[in-house]
Amino acid sequence: MIKLKTPQSYVAVVPSILSADQLNLAKAISFAEQGGADWLHIDIMDGHFVPNLSFGPATVACINKKTVLAQDVHLMVEYPEAFINSFVKAGASALTLHIEAKGDLKILLSQIKKQGVAAGISIKPDTKPQEILPYVELLDLILVMTVYPGFGGQGFLENGPAQISGVREIIKRSGRQIWLEVDGGINKETARGAVKAGANALVAGNAIFGARDIAKAITEIREAADAS
Ligand code: DX5
Ligand code: ZN
Repeated sequence: MIKLKTPQSYVAVVPSILSADQLNLAKAISFAEQGGADWLHIDIMDGHFVPNLSFGPATVACINKKTVLAQDVHLMVEYPEAFINSFVKAGASALTLHIEAKGDLKILLSQIKKQGVAAGISIKPDTKPQEILPYVELLDLILVMTVYPGFGGQGFLENGPAQISGVREIIKRSGRQIWLEVDGGINKETARGAVKAGANALVAGNAIFGARDIAKAITEIREAADAS
């Protein structure tokens, strides 16, 4: 398993394979890797927590054999407990659970950390950043959703910057090294506002894998982030 580094001085650009050509995933991943992606974002959906289906542990295991990039696994599932061990075994670098999911999240986050995997928590657009407070000591990553989860290609929601700056404040106060990742509607235009509000990792699906030139799309998002 590839370890996720602690937050660095740069902004991580994280392509989400949800928008990649599913019959040419290996090609898409290799373009992303050569184009300078920092990690890969893998969306896991169960058809209950979100009204869609996507990948499973076998996808993560296969990707692991093909890339040197860390896999940032976003669990949009109602019962994360049922899946944690399989994704750890498959080689996930980070596992992010939703605060709105079922189960004892403290126990689950500790279980992830104990196995050497970075532990993350995600909030949907209507969840208040303060709800993260009880978990902060266990976190390596916080994922702020700036669309309603389930589908790629949606627009960045208006309350995104407020959500991001609320989480940034919590991280600052904790004094801990926690990634602040933003997911949903990120492109070269919205990247700027997300970074200004405090993000240091940007997930982008449609803006990267929907582009004709994947490397160029990554560079454009990175440049927008650096200019913020
Ligand atoms: C949505 C997923 C996202 C998705 C983002 O539920 O969590 O990771 O791939 O896609 P874009 O960047 O197209 O909004
Ligand atoms: Zn995601």
